[in-house]
Amino acid sequence: MFAVDSISIRYDQKTIIHDFSFQVKEGEVVSIIGPNGSGKSTLLKAVSRQLSYFKGKVELDGINLKSITAKQAARKMCMLSQKNLAPADMTVYELVSFGRYPHKKWFEKLNHDDHDIIQWAIDKTHLSAYQERRVTSLSGGESQRAWIAMALAQRPKILLLDEPTTYLDISHQHEVLELVRELNKEMGMTVMMVLHDLNQAARYSDQIIVVKDGKKAMEGTPDQVMTTKMVRQVYRMDCEINCGLRDRIPRIHLLQTARS
Ligand SMILES: Nc1ncnc2c1ncn2[C@@H]1O[C@H](COP(=O)(O)OP(=O)(O)OP(=O)(O)O)[C@@H](O)[C@H]1O
Ligand SMILES: [Mg+2]
Repeated sequence: MFAVDSISIRYDQKTIIHDFSFQVKEGEVVSIIGPNGSGKSTLLKAVSRQLSYFKGKVELDGINLKSITAKQAARKMCMLSQKNLAPADMTVYELVSFGRYPHKKWFEKLNHDDHDIIQWAIDKTHLSAYQERRVTSLSGGESQRAWIAMALAQRPKILLLDEPTTYLDISHQHEVLELVRELNKEMGMTVMMVLHDLNQAARYSDQIIVVKDGKKAMEGTPDQVMTTKMVRQVYRMDCEINCGLRDRIPRIHLLQTARS
């Protein structure tokens, strides 16, 4: 689905991402983890076409990302950034309806099917009671869910999420990640997301990519990646890791900042 081949990205003259390669297969949930400032958002912006790279290549379903239009890309993928801002007077329903526009021609109006999809996205994110509210009047968590609903209305094959659980309390974090899993399992949506919580990454991902200083430090399945050595090298933290008896998911217990 995504084949990222040796891309390098710079801001001004400073190279932030160095020769980065990875692949995302159709139907996978892939998480990117790594310390603040390591380049996770930058990577996600490059694969979603918001940033260009000066070296390397990104292919989406075998087609060079640089050779497709923004609208063609938007029909296939949707990216939610770390910070999303809606215009002051926009309601939740209006925001979610924006998800349908990549599927429409110029000035083509939303039809019955579009409104059904918008309503489905609003219901899925438990926002029916808020649909006439202004997005700017919502709490951080409600607003996050409204943006996710907008992404769902786009019905992308690939959902790119940059820290989708920011602002959410633990129960809503769990709810959003369960929703992501449901979309992946039921609709076959491929998901690539940045997460900070190592246990959430271990629990919800098929593959994990670890980024440090703009380079790939490691990649693999949760049990390959979540090791005390990786946590020490990447985060300078000591930890204990045990594997769930039934689900075999690694559970990371952070202990303290590593001394050396
Ligand atoms: N627009 C920009 N101009 C210049 N430098 C930038 C820009 N955006 C990001 N950077 C720098 O690039 C580096 C990587 O930033 P990026 O936002 O990708 O990190 P991140 O891994 O997503 O961090 P976080 O976990 O804090 O979100 C940082 O050093 C950051 O300061
Ligand atoms: Mg970031």
